[in-house]
Amino acid sequence: MTGAWARPLVLGLETSCDETSASVIDAEDRILGHVILSQDVHEVFGGVVPELAARAHLQKVDAVVDRTLREAGVALEDIDVFGVTTGPGLIGALLVGVCWTKAVAWGLDRPWVGVHHMEAHLFAPSLEVPEAEPPFVGLLVSGGHTMLIHAEAWGRYRLLGQTRDDAAGEAFDKVAKLLGLPYPGGPSIQRTAVDGDPKRYRLPRPMLRSDQRPGDAAYYDVSFSGLKTAVVELVRSVEEEGGEGAVEAARADIAASFQQAAVDVLVAKTMRAVEQTGCPRVVLGGGVSANTLLRAEMARVLSATPVGEAGDRHVFTASPRLSLDNGAMVARAARFRYEQGETAEMSDSAHSGMPFPGLTTENGSGGTAQPRT
Ligand code: KG4
Ligand code: ZN
Repeated sequence: MTGAWARPLVLGLETSCDETSASVIDAEDRILGHVILSQDVHEVFGGVVPELAARAHLQKVDAVVDRTLREAGVALEDIDVFGVTTGPGLIGALLVGVCWTKAVAWGLDRPWVGVHHMEAHLFAPSLEVPEAEPPFVGLLVSGGHTMLIHAEAWGRYRLLGQTRDDAAGEAFDKVAKLLGLPYPGGPSIQRTAVDGDPKRYRLPRPMLRSDQRPGDAAYYDVSFSGLKTAVVELVRSVEEEGGEGAVEAARADIAASFQQAAVDVLVAKTMRAVEQTGCPRVVLGGGVSANTLLRAEMARVLSATPVGEAGDRHVFTASPRLSLDNGAMVARAARFRYEQGETAEMSDSAHSGMPFPGLTTENGSGGTAQPRT
C-alpha cells in the first residue's frame, strides 16, 4: 500500500528489559502505530527476572507487532527499515528482539539497524517536540544508566559525567523495596511522596560539594549508593525508636526526603553542565525522567540560571509514555542511524554492554566510552 506517509517507514522493536514494544514511524516522525506491553510477571519478585523477561518477550512479540501494524494501517511488507534495540540490556531479552528482526528483515529482503537503548531515550522527546534537537545538555536517567552528556549534534555526544555506582532508577527501585513499596519503585516513590514532607529527614546529597571545580573528576559524576545506605540507616533508626508501625507512619516523609535528595543532585549536576557548556537547552531521557518533581525542579532552576536568553532556556521532556521504554524511540533512533548509512549485517548480534555510538569522554579521547552502571 502507498499511504500518505513520508518514506522510509521504520518499525522499531524494544525488548531490552521488561517492556515488549513496537512502533511504526514515518520520516516526519509521525507515530503511526505504537504498542507497549509491560510484563507484570516480575512484580511478585520485586524486580526483573531475566529469564522470565526473555520468555515473555518470545511469547508476545508477534502479537505486539501485529497490533502495531494494524494500528498503523500498514502491512509488514510496507516496512522499509527494521530497527531493534541491540543493547545495552538483558542479553536473553535483547536476543528475542534481535532474532525476530533479523529473521523478518531477511525474509522480506529489507535492511535492519541496531539501536543503542540510551541513544533511543535521547531521541524520545523529539518525537513530540520537534525543537528537542541538539545542541543540548542531556540527562539520561534509567534503571541501568545515569549519564550527563553534551549533545553537539545527533550522533556527536560528549560524556560529562555518570554514576559511580547505582543508576538513578536503581536507587528509586531499591529504596521503594526497603519501604515495602511495589516494583517499579520510581512511580511508587513518587505516589507515596505526594503526602510526605521532603524536609522531615535531612538525607545526604552525594558527590555534591560547592568546592568542586570543572575538571575535578567529581564535578559532574553522581553516586547513589551512599544515599541508599543513608535511607537504610534512617529506616533502622525510625524502627528502633518508634517500634512497630513507625516506618509505615514515616513512609511518605522518607519517600519524599529521598526523592528530594536524588532530584537535588541531578538538577545541580545538570546546571553545572548548562553553565560550563553555555547551552541552556536540557533534554531529559529515560524512565526516571517521568518523575514530576525532577521535571518541575529542573525547569524551575534552569529558568533562574543566567545562561543564554531567558527564552532559550528550556527543559525538553517526553510524555510519560515515551519516557519509559518504548518502540517509538527505537524507531526514531533507527531512522537516524539508517540515514547515516548504517545498516547491520546478518552476523551482527545483541550486546548486553554495548558502547554508546558517537560518545566521547570529556577530554575528547576515544569513541567508545562505556558508562559504568
Ligand atoms: O528507561 P526505563 O523505563 O528502563 C530502563 O532502561 O531501565 O527506566 C526504568 C526506571 C526504573 O528504575 C523505574 O523505577 C524508574 O525508571 N521510573 C521512575 C519513574 N517512573 C519510572 N523513577 C522515578 N520517578 C518516576 N515517576
Ligand atoms: Zn530505558
